[in-house]
Amino acid sequence: MAATPILTTHDLARTFTTKRGTVEAVRGIDMSVDAGEMLGFLGPNGAGKSTTLRMLTTLLAPSRGTATVAGYDLAREPTAVRTAIGYVAQSGGVAPEETVRAELTLQARMYRLPKAEAIARTEELAKDLDLTDLLDRKCSQLSGGQRRRLDIAMALTHRPRILFLDEPTTGLDPGSRADVWDLVRRIRAESGTTVFLTTHYLDEADALADRLIIVDGGRIVAEGTSEELKARYGGSPDATLQDTFIAITGRGPKKDDQAPVAV
Ligand SMILES: Nc1ncnc2c1ncn2[C@@H]1O[C@H](COP(=O)(O)OP(=O)(O)O)[C@@H](O)[C@H]1O
Ligand SMILES: [Mg+2]
Repeated sequence: MAATPILTTHDLARTFTTKRGTVEAVRGIDMSVDAGEMLGFLGPNGAGKSTTLRMLTTLLAPSRGTATVAGYDLAREPTAVRTAIGYVAQSGGVAPEETVRAELTLQARMYRLPKAEAIARTEELAKDLDLTDLLDRKCSQLSGGQRRRLDIAMALTHRPRILFLDEPTTGLDPGSRADVWDLVRRIRAESGTTVFLTTHYLDEADALADRLIIVDGGRIVAEGTSEELKARYGGSPDATLQDTFIAITGRGPKKDDQAPVAV
């Protein structure tokens, strides 16, 4: 497959200044993501995943470095970047008192679809994301998995070329996590959307991503396919991704996390 980068970064960095001093959240990231690729951006809590995503989605200005997203320069063409991407934040962003239908239609209107088209797009997205029976329910009454589906539907409203998902399954039960995985796979297969997914779940990264970039302390510490990383760092292609991750970062799974194989 001919590889065309749809996203590139050069020395992308972000420092936060707080009362206690400076935090170097992202310390210079160079990467390239191909069109149609499903990238797993993996790392422990505090590694700099969300900060990187917030920069790539124009929500946070980099302290240093450059990036192109969907062919646009992040610093000079932020509006063009925003129309080419969809973003699901780690915390989600729907209004609890609104109905699913109202949220989806409002989102479509925000992307400047005329009213009739916004209504049609709402129905279409609901069908695609299995939300049709929930359209008249208040967002506050949705289960965690249903709410994630709504978050993803909202991010797909304008048919983005790149979909950024920040920890899409954190906090979901195993069944709902598997549903989100299926959904992300289907979106990718049906529309060829490039997916940039952050996670701290190794099994998720292993199951979903074409390629992994492992970050720790704001830097890329390893990248490759799951098989490559297992062979290179885990000692053999049969190594688990968990052992491989420990070999790379020198750290084991978090004890307080109930989900399977988290780091
Ligand atoms: N707005 C902020 N102000 C100060 N520090 C921040 C801010 N956002 C993130 N950080 C710090 O930057 C580091 C990386 O955070 P984050 O990108 O959220 O990591 P991850 O998403 O990988 O868990 C952490 O040490 C975090 O506390
Ligand atoms: Mg995060």
